[in-house]
Amino acid sequence: MSRFDGKSVLVTGGASGIGRAAALAFAAEGGRVLVVDQNGEGAHATAEAIRAAGGHAEAMRADISDYGQCAAMVSRAMQAFGSLHVAFNNAGIPGSMTKAVHEYELHEWNQMLAVNLTGVFHCLKAEVPAMLASGGGAIVNTASVAGLVAAKHMASYISAKHGVVGLTRAAALDLIGQGIRVNAVCPGAVHTAMLEPVMAIPEIKALMEADHPIGRVASAEEVARVVLFLASDEASFVVGHAMPVDGGLTVK
Ligand SMILES: NC(=O)c1ccc[n+]([C@@H]2O[C@H](COP(=O)([O-])OP(=O)(O)OC[C@H]3O[C@@H](n4cnc5c(N)ncnc54)[C@H](O)[C@@H]3O)[C@@H](O)[C@H]2O)c1
Repeated sequence: MSRFDGKSVLVTGGASGIGRAAALAFAAEGGRVLVVDQNGEGAHATAEAIRAAGGHAEAMRADISDYGQCAAMVSRAMQAFGSLHVAFNNAGIPGSMTKAVHEYELHEWNQMLAVNLTGVFHCLKAEVPAMLASGGGAIVNTASVAGLVAAKHMASYISAKHGVVGLTRAAALDLIGQGIRVNAVCPGAVHTAMLEPVMAIPEIKALMEADHPIGRVASAEEVARVVLFLASDEASFVVGHAMPVDGGLTVK
């Protein structure tokens, strides 16, 4: 018996990085996975990889900053699987790493919050009624160590990810009485497409690795394993937590 046998799972940002690794892992443990991404081709490629490995997956394109598209993705999961038990709200964008707070343009600030914070709210708003109709479930949101501590020149990303941690805690309290557990993962640096531009510069890569007491950055699979734990019944008493997966970064 695998941990997600008979479970219906929705993953946003599933075309790449942490979302892709989690989608593959959920399916490898028996989940039926709807892979969602604004990169529709990438979402379909992940679903195809799952099917090639013998798993069960569907894919669709959706932009989480648009509530209508989030509602459509949940409808699609309910149509395809007849239920929704697990949601991994993971899609996100990087922000500027060079500007002081007053140097952001309004449109940059608004875009960051629209995707990285309001996008997660849109997902929750669409998913919760379907999950309640399915008898309850578990939700994991991707925050970041940037949701727990600040760093210079990242005000928009840090504000959005602190918001995801707050939203996770508030939603957890609202929903636990109805059988839905909500938690967040807070990765340190993870070697994905999002980090590729900075990891390509040897001095910055070395600084980033040294910043993590473990001496390296994470793989997407290392984060996905924690996501699966939080989404599984093994974490049945874990409610409203923002779990660091950061090689010791936030305990220094
Ligand atoms: N890579 C890191 O170091 C790191 C660290 C901490 C947190 N995170 C968070 O992890 C999550 C996943 O990032 P990743 O590192 O796997 O990056 P990634 O770029 O590999 O994957 C992000 C995915 O999200 C999708 N996406 C972006 N905006 C979207 C939107 N509006 N609607 C739907 N899909 C959208 C992208 O198309 C992409 O496939 C993000 O929320 C990110 O903020 C990443």
